[in-house]
Amino acid sequence: MQVLERSDELAEIAQSLQRSGNRVGLVPTMGFLHRGHLSLVERARTECDSVVVTIFVNPLQFGEGEDFDVYPRDVQGDLTKLEDAGVDFVFVPTVEQMYPEPVAAGVSGATATTVLVRGISELWEGASRPGHFEGVATVVAKLFALVGRCRAYFGDKDYQQLLLIRRMARDLLFPVEVVGCSTIREPDGLALSSRNVRLSGPERRAACVLSRALLDGARDVQSGETQPHSVVEKMQRIVLGEPLASLEYAAAVDAWTLEVPEKLVGDVRLIIAARVGSVRLIDNVGVIAPTTAEVSRIQQGTFGVCSVEDRELEPVEATVLVGVGQAGEQASGVAGVKSNHQVNRQER
Ligand code: PAJ
Repeated sequence: MQVLERSDELAEIAQSLQRSGNRVGLVPTMGFLHRGHLSLVERARTECDSVVVTIFVNPLQFGEGEDFDVYPRDVQGDLTKLEDAGVDFVFVPTVEQMYPEPVAAGVSGATATTVLVRGISELWEGASRPGHFEGVATVVAKLFALVGRCRAYFGDKDYQQLLLIRRMARDLLFPVEVVGCSTIREPDGLALSSRNVRLSGPERRAACVLSRALLDGARDVQSGETQPHSVVEKMQRIVLGEPLASLEYAAAVDAWTLEVPEKLVGDVRLIIAARVGSVRLIDNVGVIAPTTAEVSRIQQGTFGVCSVEDRELEPVEATVLVGVGQAGEQASGVAGVKSNHQVNRQER
């Protein structure tokens, strides 16, 4: 495994890999790697000839008063994990390598050229963290420019970020295929995140309230609830019941536009952001709202509809009808929302 610090070295290596016909897999990260990051690396390893991982805590995507200074870092530990995972190249640039003009967390306008993806940047995470997505899009655009033609792997865990990067890659004509990967969770449902390490014991136990709220909301959608506000109220009540958590937003949105629809139909995403102690956590889950015909079958008690979370973010044909008992069992943990039983609508 080769560790690179200079952007021109990365560009040169990527070009020579491409010239010799290698399919390059790119996994951008901010380090302090956990199994979620490593699942992206493993997928890149199986689908590509050479894997490049980047580790860079990007100051531009942290707002004033956010956790840039206390963001967990452990480059040596990360390098060991990446070596074990069979990674070929790790790019660990300095801030000066990525930003020729001086930039700092929380200081907007420090760099003349940035990438702004309008619309999606202003919703949810974008509204809560002004400037955040501009920082993300800018740094990822730089990485895409350096690496060139590749497959780039991003987690569903940061679903809005994934949509934003897809849109940016398409609009700026980057020769990059953006691949979405399922969220890796702890057994109690908490999505793995580098920030989890900053939770105290009681906060860690409280933090699974996010996935519990999502799961309960998803169950309601699966059972035929079509009103976004009813689903959101359920999620809010669950978070309110946890004294250590304070909700920032919870929403049931169209999975493609992230806007709140009048009625939940088709591909729905439930999204949530909350503070547990001083740590801000986000999570989301995908669910396919049953059709009217399916709802009436559910109400007759013969079938339940189980959501599909671990699919690709392509137009979805997959949904599953399972017996009510089975759906109930599956819904007993967040892992149950993930389905291994995907079948195409045509197969039903
Ligand atoms: P970071 O938070 O380090 O995440 C790097 C990648 O790992 C992202 O694509 C994220 O969605 C994915 N990831 C995080 N937790 C995951 C989990 N539990 N399961 C699966 N994937 C998970 O996201 C960023 O860094 C930055 O914004 C970045 C894109 C690198 C730009 O700076």
